[in-house]
Amino acid sequence: MINEAMEKNLIMARLSSLFFISLFLHVALIATCCIGISQQQPKKHAAAAAAMAVPFFLFGDSFLDVGNNNYINTSTLDRANCWPYGETYFKFPTGRFSDGRLVSDFIAENANLPLIQPFLQPGFREYILGVNFASAGAGALTETFQGFVIDLKTQLSYYYKVESWLRQKLGNDDAKMTMSRAVYLFSIGSNDYMSPFLTNSTILHNYSDSIYVGMVIGNLTTVIKEIYTRGGRKFGFINLPDLGCLPGMKITKSENNGSCLEEVTSLVTLHNKALSKLLFGLEKRLKGFKYSLFDFNSNLRQRMHHPSKYGFKEGEAACCGTGQYRGVFSCGGKRRVKEFQLCKNPNDYVFWDSFHLTEKIYKQLADQMWSGTSNSHDVGPYNMSQLFRIH
Ligand SMILES: *[C@@H]1O[C@H](CO)[C@@H](O)[C@H](O)[C@H]1NC(C)=O
Ligand SMILES: *[C@@H]1O[C@H](CO)[C@@H](O)[C@H](O)[C@H]1NC(C)=O
Ligand SMILES: *[C@@H]1O[C@H](CO)[C@@H](O)[C@H](O)[C@H]1NC(C)=O
Ligand SMILES: *[C@@H]1O[C@H](CO)[C@@H](O)[C@H](O)[C@H]1NC(C)=O
Ligand SMILES: *[C@@H]1O[C@H](CO)[C@@H](O)[C@H](O)[C@H]1NC(C)=O
Repeated sequence: MINEAMEKNLIMARLSSLFFISLFLHVALIATCCIGISQQQPKKHAAAAAAMAVPFFLFGDSFLDVGNNNYINTSTLDRANCWPYGETYFKFPTGRFSDGRLVSDFIAENANLPLIQPFLQPGFREYILGVNFASAGAGALTETFQGFVIDLKTQLSYYYKVESWLRQKLGNDDAKMTMSRAVYLFSIGSNDYMSPFLTNSTILHNYSDSIYVGMVIGNLTTVIKEIYTRGGRKFGFINLPDLGCLPGMKITKSENNGSCLEEVTSLVTLHNKALSKLLFGLEKRLKGFKYSLFDFNSNLRQRMHHPSKYGFKEGEAACCGTGQYRGVFSCGGKRRVKEFQLCKNPNDYVFWDSFHLTEKIYKQLADQMWSGTSNSHDVGPYNMSQLFRIH
C-alpha cells in the first residue's frame, strides 16, 4: 500500500531531523519532590545509522530508571527529581538515582545511540531507537511497593503499546524485525527482596525463601517469554548485589550495629543461582535466544572491599545521606529526614545515596558489561557489545 510506504519514509525523515535538531523540552510537572525538571534530548547522530540502528529497551528498577517516576503518582521515596541528584553530569535532577548517568546511559553511548528516553515523558513519541520503561522501586511482584511504582507487568504492557506503534508505522514484518534486532536490558528483583524489610509487609512470613524467589523468577520468566514471542532475541541481565550490605539496609536493624543484613543476602544468593539457571535453560529451549548476564554482585563487592584499587576512597558509606554510613535515605532533603550530608567529590565514593551508586562506578560497570570477556566470569556468554553487533 502506497500510504504505508509513504508513512514509513516519513518516519525515517522525521527520525533524521530528530538528530539534527537540538530539542529541549521543559516539562511542567505535578511533582511532590521539586519542580523544574527537564530531560536531555538526543544528541546529534548520523541519520543513516538510525535506519538500521539496534533499538535499546530497558525494564526494571532504579538502577535503570531515567525519569519515569517523575510522571507517576508516587512518593518522594521513589523520586530523584531534586538536587543534588544529577549534580555531576546533567547539572540538574533528571529522575536518575545518581549524581550523573546510569549504566544504561553509558551502554547507549557505546552503542552509538542517543540517551534512551523514559516512556512516560510527555511529548516523546519516537520509539525506533528504543525506550526506557524502568521505574525506581519496581519489582517483579505486584505487591512490591504497590501503588508507588510501575511494576514489571505494567512495564510489559507499555512495551505492547510500543509494539503497536511500531507495527502501525513500519508494518508487521519490519516491526518484528526491529524488535528482534533490539537489545532488552533488565534490572529487577532488588526491590522484591528489600521491600519486606523496609516496610512492615508480612509477605516473607507467608512463603519460604525458595518459594518467594521462585515467584520473582517466575514473573521475570513470563515477561522474557512474552518479549521473545513478539520477536525479542537479545537480552541483557544483571544479577543482584549483596543487598543486605547497602548502606540503607545495614542500618535497618539497630541491634545489628551496622553489619550486613543476612536475611536479605541469603535471598540474593538464591535469586542469583536461580537467574543463572533460568537463562541457561532458556538459551537451550528458545531458538535464537541470546543473553548477557553481568555479575554485578562480585563487581560491586570488590569495589566495596577494595575501593582504592578502582580509584575510590570510600567503599561503604554513601556520598549523600544521614547517619551511620549515611544510610538514612534522606538525600535531597525531601523525604522524612530533612537534614543530609553531601560529600564534596562523588567520584571518591562507590555509593551515591543509601541505596544507589555514583556515576563513576556506573561507568566502570557499564564498560565491563560492554566489553568484558566471559573468561573473567564478569559477563557471559555474550557481552553487551556483541549483543548489539550480532543479528
Ligand atoms: C495520588 O496518591 C495519593 C496518595 O496515595 C492520593 O491521595 C491522590 O488522590 C493520588 N492522586 C492522583 C491524581 O491519583
Ligand atoms: C507476578 O506476581 C504477581 C503476584 O505478586 C501476580 O499477581 C502477577 O500476575 C504475576 N505475573 C506477572 C507477569 O507479573
Ligand atoms: C512498622 O510498624 C511499626 C510498629 O507498628 C512502626 O513504628 C513503624 O513506623 C512501621 N514502619 C514502617 C516503615 O511502616
Ligand atoms: C500473609 O498471610 C496472612 C494470613 O493468611 C494474611 O493475613 C496476610 O495478608 C498475608 N500477607 C501478605 C503480604 O500476603
Ligand atoms: C558497634 O560497632 C562499632 C563500630 O563498628 C563498634 O565500635 C562497637 O563496639 C560495636 N558495638 C557492639 C555492641 O558490637
